[in-house]
Amino acid sequence: PASPAVTAALLSWYDRHRRALPWRAVGGAEPDPYAVWLSEVMLQQTTVAAVKGFYARFLALWPDVAALAAAPREAVLKEWAGLGYYARARNLHDCAAAVVERHGGRFPRTETELRALPGIGDYTAAAVAAIAFGEVATVVDGNVERVMTRLHAVETPVPAARPEIRRLTAALVPRARPGDFAQATMDLGATICTPRSPACAICPLTASCAARAAGTQALYPRKLPR
Ligand code: ADE
Repeated sequence: PASPAVTAALLSWYDRHRRALPWRAVGGAEPDPYAVWLSEVMLQQTTVAAVKGFYARFLALWPDVAALAAAPREAVLKEWAGLGYYARARNLHDCAAAVVERHGGRFPRTETELRALPGIGDYTAAAVAAIAFGEVATVVDGNVERVMTRLHAVETPVPAARPEIRRLTAALVPRARPGDFAQATMDLGATICTPRSPACAICPLTASCAARAAGTQALYPRKLPR
């Protein structure tokens, strides 16, 4: 790993401050892949606060992937109403059917196999592989982009910087806790390394942050003038 100190500081912060989210396993229990997948699909473009109620209702109605696959499409779309982006609900339902048909109702464990399912893109495949199965996958969302571009003072604007951001992130992923690392980075971006007025004074990565050292944290990620 490129910087064990950064990874260690982030994981130790996560151990102390992780948000109690309903899809997070506690006490070393194995997370349910179905619950992880459902939460990650819902969390795309939608905040944690907005997702919680929908997530609880889906799990109560359809406690496993076979139940969701067997549900009428209209029922799934009806429960999704309010989350927006209906294509996600249709993809969700199609994906549940594919997990049942292709994999006997058990989610495949690798990023590559997950990526082949309908509606599962790069982000969701990496997130489920890392969080549910402990695969050393690199998870990059908008929060991770912001944390990494500040930490490393990445001067290339997004989206051109994405390959560089992916490399910088991959270099920090710990083999023992890839899922916790991903969630720690996302939590940090959501609660401390925020788009405006990041709380650098309480950030566990302040000592290593190139943008903070220069006082330029608010300028990252760089964007092309629009
Ligand atoms: N945003 C999307 N997925 C997340 C997760 N697992 N933890 C924190 N924030 C997230």
